[in-house]
Amino acid sequence: MARIIVTRGVKEYRQTIPHCIDRLDTVLEIGCAWGTTSALLHRRAGRLVAIDKGKSLLSARERYPRIQFEQIDGFDISRVLRLGVRFTKVYIDISGCRAIADVLAMVSAYESACRPQLIIVKSTALKRLLERATAWSSAATGGRRAGRAGRRPRR
Ligand SMILES: C[S@@+](CC[C@H](N)C(=O)[O-])C[C@H]1O[C@@H](n2cnc3c(N)ncnc32)[C@H](O)[C@@H]1O
Repeated sequence: MARIIVTRGVKEYRQTIPHCIDRLDTVLEIGCAWGTTSALLHRRAGRLVAIDKGKSLLSARERYPRIQFEQIDGFDISRVLRLGVRFTKVYIDISGCRAIADVLAMVSAYESACRPQLIIVKSTALKRLLERATAWSSAATGGRRAGRAGRRPRR
C-alpha cells in the first residue's frame, strides 16, 4: 500500500519535495498548471512527467522546456498508463478546494493502477477532516465492545 501525505496549500505541498523525493524517484505530477512545482520536482527526481488537463501547460512548456509535460486529464488513467512509465511517487494537486470525493477517487485510482510508494496530495478539505478524525480501534476499549464500557468482560 502507498503511504499518503496530505497537505494544505501550495507552500506545504512544495515543502514535502526535499523530504520525499530523490534521484531514484520517477515522479508523476497531476495538475502541474504553469510548472512551478514541476521545476522543483524536476531538480530532485530522476525523472518527472507532469500532466494537466488545462491550457496552462503551453506556458509551462515554454518556461521549462526540459520537463516532460503532457496534456492529459488525470482521471484518464489509461492514457497515463500508456506513457509506459513506472512511477514511484505521485503528486496530486487538482485544486486545493476540490471535493474530498474527487480527491479520494484520484488517490485510490493511482494507488491501484501505478502502485507507487508514496502519494502526496494537496487538499484543504481532506487535511481538515484528518485533523479532526480518530481511527476507531476496538483494542483501545481493552477488548470490551462499544456501548458496554465499564462492564467486566465474561470469562
Ligand atoms: C491549483 S492548480 C495547480 C498548481 C500547481 N500544482 C502548482 O504548484 O503550481 C490546479 C491545476 O489542476 C488542473 N486540474 C484540475 N483537474 C484536473 C484533472 N482532472 N486532470 C489534470 N489536471 C487537472 C487545473 O487545470 C489546474 O491547472
